[in-house]
Amino acid sequence: MTMVKLIAGNWKMHGTSEDLGEVRTIAEWSKKFEGAVEVALCVPATLIHRAAEAVPGFLIGAQDIHHKEKGAHTGDVCAAMLHDAGAGIVIVGHSERRDAHREADGHVKAKAEAGLGAGLKVILCVGESLEEREAGRAVETVGRQVDASLPAGPVDTGTFALAYEPIWAIGTGRVAEVEDIEEMHSAIRERLVAAYGETGAGVRILYGGSVKASNAGEIFAVPNVGGALVGGASLKAADFLPIVEAGAD
Ligand code: PGA
Repeated sequence: MTMVKLIAGNWKMHGTSEDLGEVRTIAEWSKKFEGAVEVALCVPATLIHRAAEAVPGFLIGAQDIHHKEKGAHTGDVCAAMLHDAGAGIVIVGHSERRDAHREADGHVKAKAEAGLGAGLKVILCVGESLEEREAGRAVETVGRQVDASLPAGPVDTGTFALAYEPIWAIGTGRVAEVEDIEEMHSAIRERLVAAYGETGAGVRILYGGSVKASNAGEIFAVPNVGGALVGGASLKAADFLPIVEAGAD
């Protein structure tokens, strides 16, 4: 099955209006690869509206969502607000949120369902710690996360994607071995098929963790890798665009 890769930038807590020039350059260059690769930038919540206005037609996203529709949740942002601001996609369950905000699998599942229910595309993140990998429990740990965080089906392969991000590879410059990526993505694929039947075979599974121009091609060649979630290397167009280009190959 051929699937268009999804390359999503995760700006984390970086970016103000001064950085809109990078957003514009990324959107403009990405047009060259339209149809061959899908590109998104998940910017801080405060920048979504201005970014979406600056690059109409380009996929701007958020990095988190509240699972409820509205209510007394100081500081939180719900799906309708993200939509209203111009977001078309949202990351849920990133390990930095699972860790710092104590987000458990059931919570992540509710967030994924809230996003999809509101018509947003969703990237759901999973990944093991270094301790779990060294103890030989990586596949088991991630499998458990996948089973407990997947949104109730049916899902659509165009709107729902998973991202495997080993925690020890995020922002460290360390990348998982291609054999380990292949093993994990194939284990995740099995779970997706078990959960969603045939549709599960088409859900994109992104790899994330220190992806950069120099390793993107090798990672994209791994079976069952359907794109990348890119942190540090998505902040500058010059670093991000070669990854987009590799994804279009
Ligand atoms: P990194 O971050 O590319 O800077 O390792 C990836 C992520 O956390 O999504």
